[in-house]
Parts: sequence; C-alpha cells; structure tokens
Amino acid sequence: MSVFELTGRKALVTGGAQGLGAGMTQALARAGAAVAIADINEDRGKQTVEALRDSGATAEFVTLDITDDAQWEHAVADTVAALDGLDILVNNAGVEITGLIVDLDPAAVRRMLDVNVLGTALGIKHAFRAMRPGGAAGRGGAIVNTSSVAATIAWPSISIYSATKSAVDRLTRVAAMESGKLGYGVRVNCVYPGLVPTEMGAKLAQDVADLGLFASQEAAVAGVIEQTPIGRLGEVADMADAVVFLASDAARFITGAGLPVDGGMGM
Ligand SMILES: NC(=O)c1ccc[n+]([C@@H]2O[C@H](COP(=O)([O-])OP(=O)(O)OC[C@H]3O[C@@H](n4cnc5c(N)ncnc54)[C@H](O)[C@@H]3O)[C@@H](O)[C@H]2O)c1
Repeated sequence: MSVFELTGRKALVTGGAQGLGAGMTQALARAGAAVAIADINEDRGKQTVEALRDSGATAEFVTLDITDDAQWEHAVADTVAALDGLDILVNNAGVEITGLIVDLDPAAVRRMLDVNVLGTALGIKHAFRAMRPGGAAGRGGAIVNTSSVAATIAWPSISIYSATKSAVDRLTRVAAMESGKLGYGVRVNCVYPGLVPTEMGAKLAQDVADLGLFASQEAAVAGVIEQTPIGRLGEVADMADAVVFLASDAARFITGAGLPVDGGMGM
C-alpha cells in the first residue's frame, strides 16, 4: 500500500469551495480520504461538494467564516459527526488585498490579519481540541497550513499579505512544538505556494499592473516566471499533491516544517 494512501482518514479543508482549496480537497479525496469543505461561499462550496460526490468521494459542506471562534466550534463538531472523525485539517482559506505601504488602508490590514492569522490560528485551536487524546476525534493527525512564497521574498505591494503569511509560518512552528510537548499527536506543517492563476493569483497579477509596477498583467506573470527556476507558474495540482504528502504517513517524521512549492522562486 502506498504511504500516500489516505483511506479511512477524515479531512477538513477551509476555503475549499474554489481555487487551491478545491484542488486540495479533490486530491485528498482521490487519495482515499473522506472530506469536508468549510467556506463562507455556500453556493460554490456546495457545487464543489456535489462534484466530489459525483466522482465517488464522501464529501460534506460546512458553512464557516474562519475568523469566528464560535463558528469554528460548530464546524469541527459537525465535521466529526458527519465524517465520523477528523484526522487532517488543511487551513487553506486566505485573502490578499494588494496595496503600496504609502497607501496603507487600516481596514484592509485588519481584514488580512483577521482571515490569514486569526482564522488560521483558530483552526489550529479547534483541530487540536478535537484531535488530541480525549477530543471528539481523539486519534491525533496532521494540520497543513497555507503560507505563501510571499513569506520568503520581497514583492512590492503585498507587504501586509506577506507579513500575515510570515505569521502563518511562525504559528506553524509553535503549534508543532506545543502539540509535541503536550502529547497531542498532531503534526503541524505549512506549504509556501508560488503564484497560481486562481481568482486570487490572477487578480494579484492584474493589481500590480494597475499600480504601475509592471506594464501589464502578462508582464507581471512573465516577471514571476523569470524569477522561477522551473520556468512556469504553479498549478493547483502542484499545491494539492504537496498537501497530500504532508497530510499522509509519508511525512510521519515531519513536523514544524515549511515546504516551498514555488518552482524555486523563494530560494
Ligand atoms: N493563488 C496563489 O497564487 C497563492 C499563492 C500563495 C498562497 N496562496 C494562498 O492559498 C490559499 C488559497 O488561495 P486561492 O488562490 O485558492 O484563493 P481564492 O480566492 O481563489 O479562494 C479562497 C477561498 O477561501 C474562501 N474564504 C475567504 N475568506 C474566508 C473566510 N473568512 N472563511 C472561510 N472561507 C474563506 C473563499 O470563499 C474562497 O473559496 C490562500 O490562503 C492564499 O493566500 C495563494
């Protein structure tokens, strides 16, 4: 049996309605996991769940705004009840609001801190409570957080986004340490995706062109590719496969790690 096999595992993916999260959910399901998508976008999330069911997966949708502590409690309880356990949390949901530091908008800063930092931290909190011995699921597991190549490079116009993704990186390390010291049996790692032309990625490339940092969206993409040794943008499947790896027993001795999945851009 492959070490990437996830049959019998139960996984919750935030922001799984679209983009990277939808691909991660599909890849986890293909590896055999029963999956739940948690998202604020109910319509899109339910469509993605239907597509997963059509492909033969066990899939559920739970409504969740990851910035809300009480909603997290319900979302995790509902997932444990619906899937009969919880072994994997992928903290993927995030937001990016492009802007130069000279134009800093406090509301945009707070929004990114709220979703990317608080939302991710609350996910770790509730997953730990459910997965640790004595918790509602109670058999340990794996958490994979979504940082970004933005945490490892200096790209103009994404200062606060980069800061929040650096925070996700540190959160990951401390969470891994607490889990180990307190015997939770939960590995905690993160990925640093490179630019992928999802809704968020494509908008970022357009935003930097609109700010005059590049001549056009195409020139911004070319600039990223120029800085990427593998010589192309990332694809959803590149990120999804890395998440499956970190969630699986193939990564059984890996915790507190950050895995660049960026074609080498952030080295
Ligand atoms: N696309 C990229 O180039 C790229 C690169 C590096 C990192 N990332 C990170 O990967 C993750 C996914 O990015 P994406 O490109 O798929 O973005 P996306 O905007 O296409 O999808 C984000 C998903 O998160 C959901 N979401 C947003 N706020 C939420 C909230 N408060 N509660 C619950 N769900 C919420 C959205 O409804 C959506 O389904 C994000 O954390 C992003 O920062 C993306």
